[in-house]
Amino acid sequence: MKLITGSASRSLSEKLATSLNIPLVKTQIKRFPDGEIYIRILETIKNEQVTIIQTTYPDENIIELFLLLDAVKRAGAKKITVVIPYFGYARQDKQFKEGEPISAAAIAKLISILADTVITVDPHKEHILDFFTVPAASISAVAPLSSFLKEKQIDLVLAPDHGAFNRAQKAAQLLDCDVDYLEKTRIDGSTISMAPKNLEVRGKTVAIIDDIISTGGTMAEAIKQLHNQEATKLYVACTHGLFAGSAIKKLEEAGCEEIISTDTIQTQFSTVSVSSALKEKLQ
Ligand code: R5P
Repeated sequence: MKLITGSASRSLSEKLATSLNIPLVKTQIKRFPDGEIYIRILETIKNEQVTIIQTTYPDENIIELFLLLDAVKRAGAKKITVVIPYFGYARQDKQFKEGEPISAAAIAKLISILADTVITVDPHKEHILDFFTVPAASISAVAPLSSFLKEKQIDLVLAPDHGAFNRAQKAAQLLDCDVDYLEKTRIDGSTISMAPKNLEVRGKTVAIIDDIISTGGTMAEAIKQLHNQEATKLYVACTHGLFAGSAIKKLEEAGCEEIISTDTIQTQFSTVSVSSALKEKLQ
């Protein structure tokens, strides 16, 4: 297998390459003076099975993935697997209002033109995999996140909304602790409301686990509820740390012990890697 990384996923790709004991294929990725992206594959990959790893966030990384796909196809790869650690636009997975696109479908369709198979990590909803017209599968970051949380002696895993409950249940199972969830209503992209709930967390260590932290609004509200009910220590963990705008400030002000995310999006909080889970899926 030949591994090619896009700029958005270099750190994860390097870890994966090391654990597979293969070098990353040499590429040149740079910008033209006007900002357009230039791609060149610098090694022979003819008749090879090639895996491209590239998170599709922010937008420029989608373009980079399309160019990598085209270059790999033209270079004569036998089979192309696209690993999308974080599949951007997945939250627009239906028409919420008349006149909208299904953004996840639009992008999945375009990737499917040249990819032979797709793997992503914790998609916002599993049904987005059906938007690809080639075989698509997902892996979960719950096990690596849970194994990182193991030493924190978590008493309760909390899902900040019902949609995240499955994930929280799996983590609680691995951590051998209790699990609960909160009821969240999204008002708009940056405003949510959370119904109060008695969680019996006094003196406890709680991990709040979600797939995405974007504006941090969801996590900050959950943290507030836990503080009001006198939880002792709070950890916030997610697969995809987007940390849009003032998310970090919001979380720090709300007060938590640690912010934990994975390397599906590389940030200073990517303390957990999904590389082992990915390696298992690719072999
Ligand atoms: C929503 O259903 C997701 O699972 C996350 O809860 C959401 O994307 C987090 O967004 P924010 O950090 O902006 O509250």
